[in-house]
Amino acid sequence: MMQSFSAFSVQSLFFALVTLSFVRMSICEKRFCPAPSILNDKPLYWKVTNPTLSPSHLQDLPGFTRSVYKKEHALITPESHVFSPLPDWTNTLAAYLITPSIGSHFVMYLAKMQENSKSGLPPSGVERFVFVLHGVVTLTDISGISHKLEVDSYAYLPPNVEHSLNSDASATLVVFERRYDYLENHTTEQIIGSTDKQPLLETSGEIFELRKLLPASLPYDFNIHIMDFQPGEFLNVKEVHYNQHGLLLLEGQGIYRLGDSWYPVQAGDTIWMAPFVPQWYAALGKTKTRYLLYKDVNRNPL
Ligand SMILES: *[C@@H]1O[C@H](CO)[C@@H](O)[C@H](O)[C@H]1NC(C)=O
Repeated sequence: MMQSFSAFSVQSLFFALVTLSFVRMSICEKRFCPAPSILNDKPLYWKVTNPTLSPSHLQDLPGFTRSVYKKEHALITPESHVFSPLPDWTNTLAAYLITPSIGSHFVMYLAKMQENSKSGLPPSGVERFVFVLHGVVTLTDISGISHKLEVDSYAYLPPNVEHSLNSDASATLVVFERRYDYLENHTTEQIIGSTDKQPLLETSGEIFELRKLLPASLPYDFNIHIMDFQPGEFLNVKEVHYNQHGLLLLEGQGIYRLGDSWYPVQAGDTIWMAPFVPQWYAALGKTKTRYLLYKDVNRNPL
């Protein structure tokens, strides 16, 4: 009796599975079936400007933050952002996320441009990189030519090169600036591009997708990498290196290892990695991870 009951159960289970797979096949027949996503109907990078401030079960816990500040790394989560008027800019609020007081040789900040806003210029000798997270900004370059920068577009402005960024409506940028490390007989050039136009690069021994937003050539003393991981993918190399990093998680979630600490992270989070901090990432959840990463390159560390 027991035996026939089990046989019946196994048979029903089998039929149920077959039926399910037919249903799934007919749904996914027309195109590749994507991983389920609750963010499908939202604009690109929506989560960065509309972040989850803290896990819902901890939102009413006074003093709770996921942010961490240590000697060789920091995690700065959206509930810790402090916005104030950006000096030299008009109608723009900014939250500095990484500055030299943390040990970096660059600044990284979010700039929230409002109606009729305009950028100021960086200090003399400082280069600038901007990446649009939300809205549209107009970059007017030294020749007076205007370029429309939409979400996922970016611009690199060499040091001491006149330019202005304007916005008629609200727009959010992530900005990196650093004092340019001059090399004799080399100069950088203005660069304008968008992530989706950049080719995928070889990542030997790694599974993630890599794009570089700046030329890898000698004049450039830093680069910005865009790295994509499908859920479950992780870095093969457990990196320890002299370069420093500023990272903004643009999409997805996962676990970042920094030194001896393992942090759950999600879109909207910023990470500072000092030279030589052991670092590693695994993407989790149901959607791909994309992050943007500052890395200093092409200069003798001496
Ligand atoms: C820079 O260019 C000048 C003129 O061509 C040359 O004399 C000099 O050796 C160059 N310097 C370096 C470091 O290559």
